Amino acid sequence: MTAEKDTLQRGPDGKLRHFLTVEGLDRAFLELIMDTADSFASVTEQTVKKVPLLRGKTIVNLFFETSTRTRTTFELAAKRLSADVLNVNIETSATTKGESLLDTIRNIEAMHVDMFVVRHAQSGAAHFIARHVAPHISVINAGDGRHAHPTQAMLDVYTIRKHKGDFHRLKVAIVGDILHSRVARSEIAALKILGAEEIRVVGPRTLIPADIQSLGVTVFHDLAEGLRGVDVVIMLRLQRERMTGAFIPSEHEYYASFGLTEGRLEQAAPDVMVMHPGPINRGVEIDSKVADGERSVILQQVSHGIAIRMAVMSMAMHHQGAGGVA
Ligand code: CP
Repeated sequence: MTAEKDTLQRGPDGKLRHFLTVEGLDRAFLELIMDTADSFASVTEQTVKKVPLLRGKTIVNLFFETSTRTRTTFELAAKRLSADVLNVNIETSATTKGESLLDTIRNIEAMHVDMFVVRHAQSGAAHFIARHVAPHISVINAGDGRHAHPTQAMLDVYTIRKHKGDFHRLKVAIVGDILHSRVARSEIAALKILGAEEIRVVGPRTLIPADIQSLGVTVFHDLAEGLRGVDVVIMLRLQRERMTGAFIPSEHEYYASFGLTEGRLEQAAPDVMVMHPGPINRGVEIDSKVADGERSVILQQVSHGIAIRMAVMSMAMHHQGAGGVA
């Protein structure tokens, strides 16, 4: 990340203002996000699942792309922090009448809101909004095009830390459509920052970017080789909505070569964790027996998304004196 983007993301005091990408953050900062999430994990187990940290704040969910997990866990996280939440329905909004992204933002900003949580098909959309909002407003990137999905990466490394303790001797394989995946980019960045021993990307040549090695990963085009001895396997779906041509012969052939089955998982370490950011496509990238099996932590990832998003929102609100942490 450039210095300009880091200045945009964090104030002069180093505290979070916007959360746009994990790139450019350091290990201590990622650990602080996870430690803060730990402090919120128990809120979910209380009879009244609320803390008053963001009471009086208004958080706007602005999702220009579909979402199940990210949108709902951001909403729950905001409500558990006692914020008011506004979910803008883009399909019934004035964007369908030609209103620009910036005009939409400026009009909602005029309602005296405090934070935008943004998902957009365009890479860089969250950065663009962050550059244009009023100084007191925070922007959280909930996924922009192929670029970044920082809270997904944070909930993924948080889940890994829960199971494995630390990252130093970890071998992690990220399998599937790396080319179109913002999740893969953010995960690679987070795992590098946290010191993972080896990060592998595994998939057909058509779905692995040519320059991916520059990110410090090793590339495999054979699933059995890529899985050999790994401690963590992260499966990704085929991002059909971002494909502009034929990247695989057929889903059937893709599953035959890159689908994760119990048999193929034998190549990995005996205590391997199976992860997937969702949505999963059973029988395309993963067999149901693996997705629902004892090695799978896929639903734990979803639960951890609430604590991580509470952490990030409370940290970002701190810059305007909401009584948040860090
Ligand atoms: N992992 C993820 O981003 O899922 P959703 O698209 O359902 O939010």
